Amino acid sequence: MTAITIDGNAVAAKIRNECRERVKRLVARGATPPGLAVILVGSDPASEVYVRNKIRACNDVGIRSLELRFPPDVSQQVVVEKIEDLNQDPSIHGILVQLPLPPSFDIAKILHTISVEKDVDGFHLYNVGGLVAGGTVFPPCTPYGVVKLLEHERIPIEGKNVVVVGASNIVGKPMALMLMQHEATVSICHAKTRDLAQFTILADILIVAAGRPRLILPEMVRTGAVVIDVGINRLKDGTLVGDVDYAGVAAKASYITPVPGGVGPMTVSMLLYNTIGSCERWQQQVTIPIPTSGISSLVAAN
Ligand code: GUN
Repeated sequence: MTAITIDGNAVAAKIRNECRERVKRLVARGATPPGLAVILVGSDPASEVYVRNKIRACNDVGIRSLELRFPPDVSQQVVVEKIEDLNQDPSIHGILVQLPLPPSFDIAKILHTISVEKDVDGFHLYNVGGLVAGGTVFPPCTPYGVVKLLEHERIPIEGKNVVVVGASNIVGKPMALMLMQHEATVSICHAKTRDLAQFTILADILIVAAGRPRLILPEMVRTGAVVIDVGINRLKDGTLVGDVDYAGVAAKASYITPVPGGVGPMTVSMLLYNTIGSCERWQQQVTIPIPTSGISSLVAAN
């Protein structure tokens, strides 16, 4: 069997075209265009690239972007106060803090300062809780992109055995919750899983987000499985690879995503999608019933 390569660039471009049309419709109705604030603390080289791509993508579809850069030694309070200002700014509909943050930062404090209505990354506790309870205001962009890719290829999820390798807050955990919502049977594996292959071999759909090149070898994959590679690893020679031995696994799988050109471009498109959704909600004055005092006391207690 030779796998069909899922063209993430093509699907992401299609979603971007839809985003461009939605922005045009908003502006034609006299609304302010959607606005996204992107906060970068420090100069992590990978984060620099991600932020540049996000800003470029905003410009491409007509979203107004605001890039805010802070030196690595900025105090957390300065960033918190900037987020509080942005929460009040009616021209900003999405706020994103690029991760990772410098080690001195309390990531939870930063993420939970972002207003739930503007949390286009979907990392706030309220949005995470929404995922658990079976609905969320903003689905996190990377797992949302994976679901969109599966839907675009008309790959059924319901009733399938899905194995997610990697249990991060950004990808693995929300991915598993979203797929449960689609009525898949989901197993989550992680760095401490013993004999990973005994799980991966059972997967109808295998989603890998572990950040380890060549973690998944052909003998770990069932013939005909769908393999989604979320990993992005830069090798010493500068090449970008995923977590899956692409050539070996492609000879066995039914579908596979390449790296680059698979899930990566989808993450950016879903960020645009969430930002425009936020602006549309704002225009329609759709309120989200958020128990803000409850959430802040919960965050404060942690
Ligand atoms: N760092 C790696 N992935 C992401 C992401 O999806 N959002 C943010 N804010 N930071 C990241």
